[in-house]
Amino acid sequence: MREWTREEKYRYLKDPQELKDLYDRISKSAYRQTFHNQAVTGLMNDPNGFVWHDNRWHLFYQWCPWGAVHGLKHWYHIISKDLVTWKNLGVCLLPDQEDGYDNKGVYSGSAMPIDDKIYLYYTGNHRDADWTRHAYTCLARLGNDGWPEKYPLPLFGANPDYTEHQRDPKIIRIPGSDTYYMIIGAQTKDKRGCALVYSSEDLQHGWTFLGEMKVPGFESFGDMWECPSVEHIGGRDVLLLCPQHLTIPGRGQSQNHNGYIIGNMDWETLTFTPDGQFHVLDFGFDSYAAACANNLQDADKAILIAWMGVPDVSYPTDEEDWAGCLTLPRELTVRGRRLIQQPLPELKKLRDEKLPFTANEAGCYALPRAAEVELDCRKGDVSLYLFTDEAGKGGLSILYSEERKEITVDRSGMRTRFNESEGESRTRPLENGLSHLRIFVDSSSIEIFVNDGDAVFTSRIFPTKEEHFFRIEGDTFNRMWTLKPAVKEQFLI
Ligand code: FRU
Repeated sequence: MREWTREEKYRYLKDPQELKDLYDRISKSAYRQTFHNQAVTGLMNDPNGFVWHDNRWHLFYQWCPWGAVHGLKHWYHIISKDLVTWKNLGVCLLPDQEDGYDNKGVYSGSAMPIDDKIYLYYTGNHRDADWTRHAYTCLARLGNDGWPEKYPLPLFGANPDYTEHQRDPKIIRIPGSDTYYMIIGAQTKDKRGCALVYSSEDLQHGWTFLGEMKVPGFESFGDMWECPSVEHIGGRDVLLLCPQHLTIPGRGQSQNHNGYIIGNMDWETLTFTPDGQFHVLDFGFDSYAAACANNLQDADKAILIAWMGVPDVSYPTDEEDWAGCLTLPRELTVRGRRLIQQPLPELKKLRDEKLPFTANEAGCYALPRAAEVELDCRKGDVSLYLFTDEAGKGGLSILYSEERKEITVDRSGMRTRFNESEGESRTRPLENGLSHLRIFVDSSSIEIFVNDGDAVFTSRIFPTKEEHFFRIEGDTFNRMWTLKPAVKEQFLI
């Protein structure tokens, strides 16, 4: 694996042409996605600033141009009318000054559109010459002409009562209230993850620290909470968070998790009262830093997009100098004490050709590069082997056991294995059995929606040329479509 020097990781982007050769090389990779957003070059991680404004969806993401390394982060801007097809607009927020508040990265954050502007809240990741970290909460204003204006001074600096791990401002407006709230992921001095709450009557000024969010039962839950957010869905409050450096049963040795707690948020007392436990948002291997659109008018649902990746993991395309992509947008609703996550209804527009199930001698079907496979499952065990070779060997297995009432996704049969140390299989109980599977396959990812969104497994996979077949065992009724490209490969910085 390539070793990056600090100078290489944190090099400022001066001229887009510096990236052209890199882009030309990367765009030829067999693992470039066809209907998922991915960076033109380098590394993409968290989605940021997801809003509806000026008749289109705006989304930004963390982007390090130079390669598959968590180095100098920028905000890259993409737009969509329907959340299905997307267009690159180019880099939006750049860390471009050695003495700036964000001199070592424009880190994650969120957005709020007002009148003809989108206000972008982000963490300025500043490092002194001796590499001491300082986190600033910063603001920029984006006009409809696409031109971002950074405010010269941060809204506030790090709270001295916590460590310097303070980041990812999420701006929240409560319907019927004139107060804006902002929550920030943080770490206490005795290394506990938490969320800090600020408020203001004005988006641009007067932010005051209200206190640490109290979440009874979760006082000691990981050592840092990244990307926390409180969403109001279907009359309930949902605390989304990425607790770090703890292991969770069923998630192998993984140290980074993205999950949620359903409950009730009292903004007066800053108390989030859980109604139930912490649930993992996604049971797959590669999903983190999920963000919900900030100004959806429908109070019964939310729309969520996550980074299809996790921190501290190397991916096979690192060698090709790129990594990361975004998940498909999902519609979130609350059912009882759980979130239901379904692919957006609009994604049916991606369907192209409906394919017949014509098996080869080994009983396998050809698996297109970009496809949707849907199964109605009647009763009994179901076994699905995707990305097998022509003889039906190897691949990623999805196994449902009727006796144990659980589903297991295992990617250890793939020829290209990675991140094995965090575990290669994940299991989720299905109390009511398995009735439905909807699976989206792209060149290097798979998203498996179980029982209409009751559980989701999202994973990167890197099939070789031979691994493009699949077979199904069980009492199922199956359909399959090829999917159209939805994101144009285009060099735009
Ligand atoms: C989460 C995260 C955030 C941070 C950003 C930097 O993946 O570590 O906490 O703001 O990524 O890219």
